[in-house]
Amino acid sequence: MKEQHPSGLSEGGGEQSKERFSSYGFILAAIGSAVGLGNMWKFPYITGLYGGAAFFLLFTICLLLVGLPVLLAELAVGRGGRGNPSTSLIRLSGSKLWGRLGFITILGPFVILSFYAVVAGWTMHYAVLSFTGKLFESGDYTGLFTNFIGSWLPVFWQFIVMLLTGFIIMLGVSAGIERFNKILIPGLVILLLVLVVRALTLEGAGEGVAFFLRPDFSKLTAESALVALGHAFFSLSLGMGAMITYGAYVDKRQSLGGATLAIGLGDLLYAFLAGLIIFPTTFVFDLEASQGPGLVFVALPAAFSAMPLGAFFGGLFFVLLAFAALTSAVSLLEVPVAFVREVLGWSRPFAVVLVSAACFLIGVPSALSLGGDGSGLNFGGKSLFDWVDFICSNIVLPLSGLIITLFVGYAWKGAAEEAGLTVWWFRVWMFMIRFVAPVLVLLVFLYSAGLISF
Ligand code: PFF
Repeated sequence: MKEQHPSGLSEGGGEQSKERFSSYGFILAAIGSAVGLGNMWKFPYITGLYGGAAFFLLFTICLLLVGLPVLLAELAVGRGGRGNPSTSLIRLSGSKLWGRLGFITILGPFVILSFYAVVAGWTMHYAVLSFTGKLFESGDYTGLFTNFIGSWLPVFWQFIVMLLTGFIIMLGVSAGIERFNKILIPGLVILLLVLVVRALTLEGAGEGVAFFLRPDFSKLTAESALVALGHAFFSLSLGMGAMITYGAYVDKRQSLGGATLAIGLGDLLYAFLAGLIIFPTTFVFDLEASQGPGLVFVALPAAFSAMPLGAFFGGLFFVLLAFAALTSAVSLLEVPVAFVREVLGWSRPFAVVLVSAACFLIGVPSALSLGGDGSGLNFGGKSLFDWVDFICSNIVLPLSGLIITLFVGYAWKGAAEEAGLTVWWFRVWMFMIRFVAPVLVLLVFLYSAGLISF
């Protein structure tokens, strides 16, 4: 017999709706989705750009006050609707309009993965370069990075990333996603701790720690607040349907409130530890922490080259990045795969092959747009790669975040039952979801789209 929904609609969705995580496996998989290139590549350089400790504080506040309520909303929608974001919204509301809005949430991860896989590929290439010592041969790290991203090599690595991601997804929720997260996340934690100890024991590490942890509030601007909020969303994998899709595989007995807290704190702790690796390392070797996206690929290799056993630690660092990226890529790919399986009735293997191949192909121009053969792919002063990142992170992501908060806050009657919070916490949650989150997310959207400025 089919499980009955609070909405009165039947569960539907064939075998897909029966796939489940174990409770521990779900927490690991969701942390795996949250922890990624955002924490180790994007977070350090935007923290550097927007003034260090004060930005970290803002990010923490945004993550706790807005990120966690929206995360709980997404998980509840997924578990309540037992489907991909679009289908879940239709099931819970009984209206196709919400499903159409939810479709934005399916396109986002597909497009984001196309360039996320490119950067994930860079990390794999750099791991190989570091372990083999080739990274340190010329001493010109900017030249090395520029030549690499301007060549065809990133396409090869992007292909490898898509192959691995597709392979994991092909095995299914419990034998694939859950199993690999159970291996990769503990591996990630060990690597992270080794590297934190290495960074903190460098002579003169204190200055970098101070930059990261002693706030200078004069650096705070409205812009940094919006960037912090946007990044809290990206970092928790919100607005991309990933947490809704993972939520669909969560057992009814699991506490969603507890899971939300564990995922949020895991992500925050990870960003904190990443900062403790990157800032001391850049400061000790007198490198610019605010140099932007090249921080990890240009500044850090210079630092590794100057430390004892640098090739080894550098290699570990890039493996860590690659693991983190892979567990996030998996959650991104599962969203469109779940969608086509459910809506078009495709089998998991067929859906994985087609969606991964399509994602790889649309990512190739992004991979090549940073110079070399693709140097023509520039529009309005930004490369195609930067445009894809910009549109997804600043427009699609807040827009779908807005849709979810409005849905849970105003349209869905079953939110209380699904979230399973105490009365007091439910009131706090609803207040954030109804009044605080939509306003802030709308501000991020308007600002990013260039419709308002400060
Ligand atoms: N949270 C991931 C990171 O910080 O790298 C990125 C991400 C993964 C965003 C999955 C959105 C998503 F659905």
